[in-house]
Amino acid sequence: MKQTVQTIQAKKQRGEKITMLTCYDYTTAKLMDAAGLDMLLVGDSLGNVILGYEDTVSVTMEDMLHHAKAVARGAKENAMVVVDMPFLSYQTSVYDAVVNAGRLMKEGRAGAVKLEGGAVVCDQIRAIVQASIPVVAHLGMTPQSVNTMGGFKVQGKTADAAKKLLADAKAVEEAGAFVLVLECVPAKLAAWISGKLTIPTIGIGAGAGCDGQVLVYQDMLGMFSDYQPKFVRHFADVGSVMRDAFAQYQEAVHDGSFPAKEHEFAISDEIMAQLEQEEK
Ligand code: KIV
Repeated sequence: MKQTVQTIQAKKQRGEKITMLTCYDYTTAKLMDAAGLDMLLVGDSLGNVILGYEDTVSVTMEDMLHHAKAVARGAKENAMVVVDMPFLSYQTSVYDAVVNAGRLMKEGRAGAVKLEGGAVVCDQIRAIVQASIPVVAHLGMTPQSVNTMGGFKVQGKTADAAKKLLADAKAVEEAGAFVLVLECVPAKLAAWISGKLTIPTIGIGAGAGCDGQVLVYQDMLGMFSDYQPKFVRHFADVGSVMRDAFAQYQEAVHDGSFPAKEHEFAISDEIMAQLEQEEK
């Protein structure tokens, strides 16, 4: 059954954890959908793990649309597809926010959009929700603000910062967000905030007290080695499996063992003889 705003929110009421992973392509979306994931996030982290940027600042609407379309085509059965609004696609004005959220829905076939920030983006959240587009909010470490935050750091560690985080969480809930992602927030604080909200929280580096969890899939599969966040568990070492397979392919092509007979297409000897004859 396809997840909806209502089925996702009902999980919090039942105390059932919500599962989300990032996803950027059709093949992976099919695998994740079949595995029963609740939500697939076409994150602007694709800037890092797919496009090789140092941060998410350069990611464009066209990048997001390109990957959203592929993921939406692969997640037909179960998962809701959430698509990140990239840097400066919503901060600039309420109008830009609604137009760009609309493009992610109409062209990208998203089920919901995600944007970063608290009280400062509540007008945008309100307007997008009024346009009948479900919104996921994102607080704590918000990668699009890396240049003002002074790096990728845990957020909410002082009493003032923690109070601001709670105020922002309540503000985005009041503005109409149906889910809140909390990134790199101390576990006790994230659990405390989760208990104060009616909407589900989805944590990444925010401990087990959140209502759900999200990870970047290349991180949890051990495929991405540029940096290793402390909060990641490697559920498989797919990176080594891929490296080994690529090396075996390289060797097999060099030593002539690939392609073998069973990988070839046949043509009749008569036709080959005729070609040979005609070439003479
Ligand atoms: O872009 C992304 O992958 C995200 C997750 C880290 C939550 O926003």
